[in-house]
Amino acid sequence: MEKEVSKIPKLTGKIKVPGDKSISHRAIMFGALAWGKTNVKGFLQGEDCLSTIKCFRKLGIKIEQNNDEVQIWGKGLKGLTEPQDILDVGNSGTTLRLISGILAGQNFLSILTGDNSIRKRPMARVTDPLRLMGADISGRENGKLAPLVIKGQNLKAINFTSPVASAQVKSAILLAGLYAEGITEVNEPSKSRNHTEIMLKSFGAEIDEVDNKVRIKPMPNLQAQDIHVPGDISSAAFFLVAGAIHPSADLLLEGVGLNPTRTGIIDVLQQMGANLEITETWTSAGEEVGNIRIKSSNLKGIKFGGDIIPRLIDEIPVIAVAACFASGITEIRDAEELKVKESNRLSTIATELTKLGAKIEELPDGLRIEGNSSLTGKLVESYHDHRIAMSLAVAGIMAEGTTVIKDSECVDISFPGFFEMLVGKLD
Ligand code: S3P
Repeated sequence: MEKEVSKIPKLTGKIKVPGDKSISHRAIMFGALAWGKTNVKGFLQGEDCLSTIKCFRKLGIKIEQNNDEVQIWGKGLKGLTEPQDILDVGNSGTTLRLISGILAGQNFLSILTGDNSIRKRPMARVTDPLRLMGADISGRENGKLAPLVIKGQNLKAINFTSPVASAQVKSAILLAGLYAEGITEVNEPSKSRNHTEIMLKSFGAEIDEVDNKVRIKPMPNLQAQDIHVPGDISSAAFFLVAGAIHPSADLLLEGVGLNPTRTGIIDVLQQMGANLEITETWTSAGEEVGNIRIKSSNLKGIKFGGDIIPRLIDEIPVIAVAACFASGITEIRDAEELKVKESNRLSTIATELTKLGAKIEELPDGLRIEGNSSLTGKLVESYHDHRIAMSLAVAGIMAEGTTVIKDSECVDISFPGFFEMLVGKLD
């Protein structure tokens, strides 16, 4: 489906973005592995999280979902049953990688696949450490690519140093660690999001985090919990950037997750000079949450890279849009991980913003953007990548003329209702 986006006169009012994708996935998974009934509120009804529900139903777990409320009747760590069919994760890397860690320690066979994009994404980063723990996994190119076949085994703990800062890799190993003999330890080059650690702890797991190192003990049991999922800062990011670059904007984003491992976008926008303020904060199920006010801003280009990258990994495409409207040069480095996301996001965002008239150069590990661009609407590709489609829509509300985004329905993967919220009456 093609979506047309053009200039909007103002961007004002209150916004409540949908629930956090990472936390919604984990609520389903950990609820399925716990004893008793887990109640989830604020669940993200995006396609990725719905794929996780479908997979766990096939693994024998009763799950009821009504809009953003979900009930999961967990059957304990050993309560899953052999799926009678292939588990289809759709477009969801989080589902595929985390579930692999869980399935490695079961006493049955599972086969996992997903869409075109997921079958190209690197899986060795997960299958290699899981094999070191004793997992029996095969797949295309010797387990580097899905479909994967996982035959559950008795696992043993490992002490693993991951070459990439990836919460999906870390979480897969920690989940396998729940089933392994001994204490499993994961070290990362930079700290990635820690929602697994926070939520598993609230379910009763023995897990400790010191800097970039996490250790977990095998457990006989996890206990069901009530979870209120905060708004997704990665979805809020589109409105934070739109608010900063739009000349007539004043938005209040309510109930956004502010876990420090995710707030790189706030740091970067503030360094760029954004008129951004966190007006209120509270804690929910161990996660920081708050309201964010963003107003029209005069942004300036900045350089960043290193440890901040995992803290804003999914926001780089929309930061590139912000940089088009900043004064001076923005340079983003150490972001090669973007090449293996739902699309090669360094190349897809650079190619499509160039079509709109942006001055953006793809670097081996990042992007270099010259600011003060005037963009003109064109036909652009989303590559079926939700975050590319939404970034281009934010560019589209600032461009002259009409921007037409191909395959725009992909926004439903993480943000159903995104276009209506962007161009709808916000006040
Ligand atoms: C996620 C981790 C990130 C992120 C993805 C969700 C998670 O991936 O890009 O959208 O829920 O653990 P990596 O940790 O592999 O970078």
